[in-house]
Amino acid sequence: QSADKGQYKHYMLKEIFEQPGVIQATLNGRVGKGEINTQLFGDSAQQLMDSVQAVQIIACGTSYHAGMVARYWIEELAGIPCQVEIASEYRYRKTITLPNTLFVTISQSGETADTLAALRVAKERGALASLAICNVPGSSLVRESDLCLMTQAGPEIGVASTKAFTTQLSALMVLTLSLAKTRGLDSTLEAELTDALTTLPAKVEEVLALSQRVEQLATHFADKQHSLFLGRGALYPIALEGALKLKEISYIHAEAYPAGELKHGPLALVDSEMPVITVAPGNELLEKLKSNMQEVRARGGELYVFADQHAGIEDQEGYHILHLPKIHPLLEPILYTVPLQLLSYYVAVIRGTDVDQPRNLAKSVTVE
Ligand code: G6P
Repeated sequence: QSADKGQYKHYMLKEIFEQPGVIQATLNGRVGKGEINTQLFGDSAQQLMDSVQAVQIIACGTSYHAGMVARYWIEELAGIPCQVEIASEYRYRKTITLPNTLFVTISQSGETADTLAALRVAKERGALASLAICNVPGSSLVRESDLCLMTQAGPEIGVASTKAFTTQLSALMVLTLSLAKTRGLDSTLEAELTDALTTLPAKVEEVLALSQRVEQLATHFADKQHSLFLGRGALYPIALEGALKLKEISYIHAEAYPAGELKHGPLALVDSEMPVITVAPGNELLEKLKSNMQEVRARGGELYVFADQHAGIEDQEGYHILHLPKIHPLLEPILYTVPLQLLSYYVAVIRGTDVDQPRNLAKSVTVE
């Protein structure tokens, strides 16, 4: 993970392709054979982790989307109430800190002004302890937090975050499983998920091998002005992240909605000029998502569907499908991020924008 582009045209593409390795590095030593390491922060922190009764996550930008995914995981697997909020909102409103709250910040740089300010405020508001999920050792966030769980993404140069996000998700899954295990996580499920995590880097590799097909899909977007991303459950934040990537680097207006909200507004915008991207793994919400897709088709909208090969969604008029490998449903958010990153990358390249340095944006926002 050196800081030069090597064979790649842009840092962003290089960083997308580094994901199998950096996810592996983030899991190393934390996920064992069939079991998760519950000693993520050493013996002294164990008692503290055992007393956690609520989780408050704070972040900005892409890191906030990682937090949104983690909320689904933490409540489902660890059974701990979890809230997620944008740092700039949290710091300026009156909040209520639940007893024994673990305050989790997520940040690639560890220098985002609002995230740091929120951490300082949380201490005054009586959080039990603070934990930083961060990519830069020695950053302000790491120094000011009680505990840290480092992502091992290596230097990320492209302003649009890619490998930092998937390593944040990997670290958050490790944290979730560790919290869940001391709260009675079923050992079969633990083994299932740790095995799935072990295969994750290879699955990401399989998705990267589909990049040419994604490049082909991208040609349909290059002249569009607007786009809509749909997902359900923990894939909703992934739809948000896909839309953010497209906005950031291709300057195409992109919105994301939980698919169940389609009827409550965005459907009014759908016509043949509005591509609709859906993240549609074969999970239990698939049937509902399929009916959302039919609503889009009935209005002439073209669908771009990232789907599990067993989901039973086949190519037909108005549907462009990319089949992805099967993975444990709880890990789908990580895997399904990758084709969306590739999609915005190739759209931006076709539109000729400055992929690594999008206009008006900074890699790290250290002022308010
Ligand atoms: C900026 C970057 C984003 C990033 C956000 C939060 O807006 O352009 O890519 O997600 O800051 O940064 P952090 O370093 O706290 O994760």
